[in-house]
Amino acid sequence: MTSTSPTPAPRAGSRLNRRVVAISIGAALGGFLFGFDSSVINGAVESIEGEFDLSAAFTGFAVASALLGCAVGAWFAGTIANKYGRIRVMLIAAIFFFVSAVGSGLAIGIWDLILWRILGGLAVGAASVIAPAYIAEVSPSKFRGRLGSLQQLAIVMGIFAALLTGQLFADAAGGAAEEWLFGIEAWRLMFMAEAIPAIIYGIAALRLPESPRYLVGQSKDAEAAEVLRLFTGVEDVDSKIKEIEDSLHREEKQTLRDLRGHALGLKPIVWTGILLSVFQQFVGINVIFYYSNTLWRSVGFEESEAFLTSTITSVTNIVVTIVAILLVDKIGRRLLLLIGSTGMTASLGLMALAFSQAITDGDGEVTDFEGSWGTAAVIGANAFVVFFGATWGPVVWVLLGEMFPNRIRASALAVAAAAQWIANWAITVSFPSFASIGLTFAYGFYTSMALLSLVFVYFRVPETKGMELEDMDADVHVKRGKFVESTRS
Ligand code: GLC
Repeated sequence: MTSTSPTPAPRAGSRLNRRVVAISIGAALGGFLFGFDSSVINGAVESIEGEFDLSAAFTGFAVASALLGCAVGAWFAGTIANKYGRIRVMLIAAIFFFVSAVGSGLAIGIWDLILWRILGGLAVGAASVIAPAYIAEVSPSKFRGRLGSLQQLAIVMGIFAALLTGQLFADAAGGAAEEWLFGIEAWRLMFMAEAIPAIIYGIAALRLPESPRYLVGQSKDAEAAEVLRLFTGVEDVDSKIKEIEDSLHREEKQTLRDLRGHALGLKPIVWTGILLSVFQQFVGINVIFYYSNTLWRSVGFEESEAFLTSTITSVTNIVVTIVAILLVDKIGRRLLLLIGSTGMTASLGLMALAFSQAITDGDGEVTDFEGSWGTAAVIGANAFVVFFGATWGPVVWVLLGEMFPNRIRASALAVAAAAQWIANWAITVSFPSFASIGLTFAYGFYTSMALLSLVFVYFRVPETKGMELEDMDADVHVKRGKFVESTRS
């Protein structure tokens, strides 16, 4: 069963070998496209509104519809990953990203543009499931947190790349995305630019080895042994394969029904995944990104400096992800999340307080603040991005990739990620109504979610640092971070 390949295996799991870093980066390209695709619309949206003569409300609907595509893509990615493999999901996603990029760039009307964007959404959803699952499945347990965090690093780099692309194209076209550049409007080029990373992702996927956990499920033990030996540095490959086999019960087909359990119809660990996802969105991170320009303006930055301020937020997010990469395998997932929830509660609370001192115009837009509350709001917003980006942003993706047992990983992750996209959509579409009640109310809500997330992590989120994927158990309960006695019947 073990391979006789001449390629020397890396020394046993104690050092991070370059091959596993390379394949994790390859899979994380999906995260880059996830970030790029969901943000590129920001640079294009005003021009689209003008070009197709849309109302602001309809544009909002059109933008948000892609998020529901993400939920659907995430949902199906699990089933496809179980049946046809992790790599196939990446390939399908790469093709969808490519077609969506070209289609959106050449859209003739708003309805086909919405369709192309939904197609891209399907790919984003699929990428959001497959990168964490794949990386966790090929990583040595000791470095799984770090490698898994590459997904978030790629997401935030994708967000930044979309921002840069938007600005560069608009500038080159003469200052606005509806101006022409190379015989086509700049906003169309912004979408088309995504075709390039999509092609690179597709090529990378073709070169990645299939996940050993999937291969064992397909009874391809020899191939699985080779991947384990080369990438994870497992010494006793045969017994590892046996362990994976036992954890998969491979004689039975894997389906979504495996997620069923006694806790409100689902296994407790599946609920933990869903709630991690929902809290990650309900603290309002994507609203802050969207709204930060208005905040900066209220403390004296000009509209024309929006690019500068968005850049500050984006770069901050990239830099703090490195903090997570450095710490996640040392201090663990739980401690990072607990620190994050505490910091987010404080910073969001500060924002809620600051907004109670805001001065608004007739449309409810913040124009100024009493005293130095504007500075407090900006500090709060940036501190929030720091806490989120160093903790909940990456750690949730790491945990979703690793906390489920082999047998249900793809399906459970698919359900949790679908829940995350629905939560993302709900927060995005509800923000205008929340803001019309008052920004103190909106940020007060996010503050309360951050506080609840602290309680949730303390009682329900397991510490998975250093554990083998084969030791994750679907039927156990988590009490204060520890998996407690199996209640399996
Ligand atoms: C996480 C979230 C995503 C958010 C990003 C920002 O990846 O899942 O919704 O946009 O962090 O840092």
